[in-house]
Amino acid sequence: QVHRASTFAPVNIAVIKYWGKRDTKLNLPTNSSLSVTLSQDDLRTHTTASCSPDFTQDSLTLNGKDQDISGARTQACFRELRQLRKDVEAGDSSLPKLADLKLKVVSENNFPTAAGLASSAAGFAALVRAIANLYQLPATPTDLSKIARQGSGSACRSLFGGYAGWQKGEEEDGSDSLAYEVAPASHWPDMRACILVASADKKDISSTTGMQATVATSALFQERANIVVPKRMKAMEKAIQNRDFEAFATLSMKDSNNFHATCLDTDPPIFYMNDTSRAAVRLCEAINDAAGKIVCGYTFDAGPNAVVYYLAEDEERVAGTFKAILGDKTGWEGKKGQAVKSDVQVPEGNEVVVGLLQKGISRVILTSVGDGPRKTEEH
Ligand code: DP6
Repeated sequence: QVHRASTFAPVNIAVIKYWGKRDTKLNLPTNSSLSVTLSQDDLRTHTTASCSPDFTQDSLTLNGKDQDISGARTQACFRELRQLRKDVEAGDSSLPKLADLKLKVVSENNFPTAAGLASSAAGFAALVRAIANLYQLPATPTDLSKIARQGSGSACRSLFGGYAGWQKGEEEDGSDSLAYEVAPASHWPDMRACILVASADKKDISSTTGMQATVATSALFQERANIVVPKRMKAMEKAIQNRDFEAFATLSMKDSNNFHATCLDTDPPIFYMNDTSRAAVRLCEAINDAAGKIVCGYTFDAGPNAVVYYLAEDEERVAGTFKAILGDKTGWEGKKGQAVKSDVQVPEGNEVVVGLLQKGISRVILTSVGDGPRKTEEH
């Protein structure tokens, strides 16, 4: 007999970045962070968790390939979820003893893995949510966020839809390092995200390694973690509560640049942004200048891809400008992308920027803010 449960989990893209750990085992961060959850209609991990007396070992496959699960991160997730199930079973002897059975987890991403598209976030959020569903745990998303965090820090935010915060917490055991809902997607549903994929290759320096090097060697880092981010977290929460796009976008851009400055200040320096990334920054500035106000804001994770946030009402002047430059790259064909006009005037004087974008962007994904994990059919 096989017990099964399935879920989708979303990608999230931080606007106040997590970068630095105070505890590498528990993934406890040196600063709080905040992200936008992207729509699972476009980007998602689909995971089915099952358990059976017939299984002889725990296993995990991602996109059809067996994954090594001996690592501490996956083991921590399995262990903690099993313990929660054991607690439930101890309180009700009529329940099947699922915690003793081996687990089989099957995952699929519908986007390039490890391309800096936050695949580990959606991946661990889906793994934790699927097993929690399988075990019928009474745990809240915040409870589960503490487990997903141990898989990958940013995964804790993918248990929520809309706008999610991750408070860094003070406790050594991580009990207060958890994710929470800043606002649901319905609070500000007009938020759009245009992902400009500058590289779909596996990235050079993983975020785990990169952030440790930054903590160890960057002088700017202390200022960021202790002074810059705490202030920005408050300002960003307020911007979201007030649906103040100018503040939201300005803070996003500043925080991305501040994070990448600490990367550059790392010894040896880490370069996640490349010429294509910088061209995307320039074009966003040109779009904002032409509009006479802030209508878009960029952010970059540990890779060269740009994520450009804007509001639905500005689709034409933001996404439309990129479409006018990039033509029908994959992604515009999607439902959301097709609707975007392409005969938009590109701000003048940007020939070099346009050339760099045309050369460097391989794919565009147009999406929006979305909900948290949702139960689905099995694989
Ligand atoms: C730049 O969550 O991938 O995307 O905890 O080591 O797995 P680990 O790191 P990870 O780091 C994400 C870094 C970031 C910023 C962010 O998502 O907040």
